[in-house]
Amino acid sequence: MASTLHSKALALTIPVTYAKELLGPVLGRLDVAKSALFYYILAIYARKAYWHLRARGVTASVKEVYLVVSQFVVRLVLRLPSMQKKVTTEMGKARLDIENKLVPKGPNVTRHLALPDDGKSLEWILAEMEKMDVELNGQSGIWNQGKLSGAVYHGGEDLQKIITAAYDRYCVSNPLHPDVFPAVRKMEAEIVAMVLKLYNGPDTGCGVVTSGGTESIIMALKTYRDWAKKVKGITEPEIIIPASAHAAFDKGAAYFKIKVHVIPVDGYTRKVDLKRVKRAINPNTILLVGSCINYPDGTQDDIAALSELALKHNLGLHVDCCLGSFIVPFLEPAGLANGDANGKYKLTPFDFRLKGVTSISCDTHKYGFAPKGTSVIMYRTPELRRFQYYVYAEWVGGVYASPSMSGSRPGALIAGAWAVLQHVGTKGYLESCRSIVLSTRQIADAITNTIPELYVLGDPPASVVAFASKHPQVSALEVGDAMSKRGWHLAGISNPAACHIAVTRLTVPVVDAFIADLKDAVQEAKLAPSGTGSMVAVYGLGKSSAVGPEMVGELAASFIDTLYKA
Ligand SMILES: *Cc1c(COP(=O)(O)O)cnc(C)c1O
Ligand SMILES: *[C@@H]1O[C@H](CO)[C@@H](O)[C@H](O)[C@H]1NC(C)=O
Repeated sequence: MASTLHSKALALTIPVTYAKELLGPVLGRLDVAKSALFYYILAIYARKAYWHLRARGVTASVKEVYLVVSQFVVRLVLRLPSMQKKVTTEMGKARLDIENKLVPKGPNVTRHLALPDDGKSLEWILAEMEKMDVELNGQSGIWNQGKLSGAVYHGGEDLQKIITAAYDRYCVSNPLHPDVFPAVRKMEAEIVAMVLKLYNGPDTGCGVVTSGGTESIIMALKTYRDWAKKVKGITEPEIIIPASAHAAFDKGAAYFKIKVHVIPVDGYTRKVDLKRVKRAINPNTILLVGSCINYPDGTQDDIAALSELALKHNLGLHVDCCLGSFIVPFLEPAGLANGDANGKYKLTPFDFRLKGVTSISCDTHKYGFAPKGTSVIMYRTPELRRFQYYVYAEWVGGVYASPSMSGSRPGALIAGAWAVLQHVGTKGYLESCRSIVLSTRQIADAITNTIPELYVLGDPPASVVAFASKHPQVSALEVGDAMSKRGWHLAGISNPAACHIAVTRLTVPVVDAFIADLKDAVQEAKLAPSGTGSMVAVYGLGKSSAVGPEMVGELAASFIDTLYKA
């Protein structure tokens, strides 16, 4: 009998000698099998560790280990009674601060915490809504002055009328019952067809309308997970995403237990580092991701190169055009795809014309100006889309089949989206693309040419521009705070600390004011760096120490709790 450490360990568990002799030959074979299993498992782990190390690189892996260990230590320290008391007090204060900002207090606030005995009239309802708006906003609506980054993408009264008319007509409809609401079914299919056409979908192209970009992305992840399992036998799926990809990829991967490799973007171009993407590909990889355009800084990845990689390795490639939506497909027909006279702001290929692109998400509810709660997920083939469906044929309630996360869905939203696409039309989108993109470029040029303290991140081709500071005395986040004082709501981003504005139709008329305010804000931040702005507080905290992420996570969860305080 082969006497390895391993077989001895097994023998020790059999106390009776003669049993051992009797069973010897059998155990011997068992030993071999057990050793083989041991080495097999060891090999699997070693292989996975190697893939991980190759994807992340040695430095990043060491940092990762350091972070895990330090966070573990922080958690231990935070459990010390003295620390726990301090943390509880500090968190309590922060929570109260959030609550005071969000939840109205005082004797004059009416709270509707139970059903009224008698139903209220329409007049009462509208008056109560007016009261809430005035109480909570200080005025009736602050969203329509063009000073928000993104958030509201049109604000035109004409479109609002179109949307509410469509809602009115299809108020009770539900695409879960296509036999009852055949028009809604037809409109959904037509929305998909129209968007596919914009993205140069092939003849086999197809898709589904979802509730938003996040659902589109989550559904794509489900699709590739199930595809890879069936076609490639992958049971431990991994995806490779740029650091600039939307959080929805991480969210979906967390829901579905998919491993995510986050690849850094180039500091100068802001495009995903292709060498690192290549290194991260391994036999468990199911999907590559690129954005056109990304959320943090509005630049695009090199989708053509990602497409080559996807084809070479037989991987899925999802292009996130949630934000690019109805801007990027119109840059070429608007004559803006080649950038300006100096060749800046150029758009590179991103749609189904690249053979490796297997799916694209496009938010109709962003620059498509459709009502909130609509997006389209497109696939190159119906075979791929099949993996998105959920079917339960033996359900007691009857055969259940649904295309996406929801069961019942609002047909009114589909009707609203369809109506908007019909109303705006190609000419309308071309016009909005032109004005929005030219305004964005005007802002980017102004920052580059007239504000020496700031620089534009990458070479943004479309409707979003981000700025960071290159002046030691100016923090971009403080500039963001100074802009808040002037009524602007910019988005703060990190790595590097920066602010971005997603230009909308509402921003176009106030671009000059934006540039003037930005110049003032930079001077203010330079003269009196406070270091205490709310943007600084929230975004600075995340990186200040190992305690940061832990507490920021806790605070973010508190924030959500607070949203549900009546
Ligand atoms: C907005 C956005 C999403 C997610 O969209 P939601 O509609 O907010 O769920 C995804 N990707 C990018 C680049 C986005 O800007
Ligand atoms: C509540 O409303 C009354 C009457 O309108 C007003 O006089 C009073 O100042 C309000 N109180 C608060 C705290 O807003």
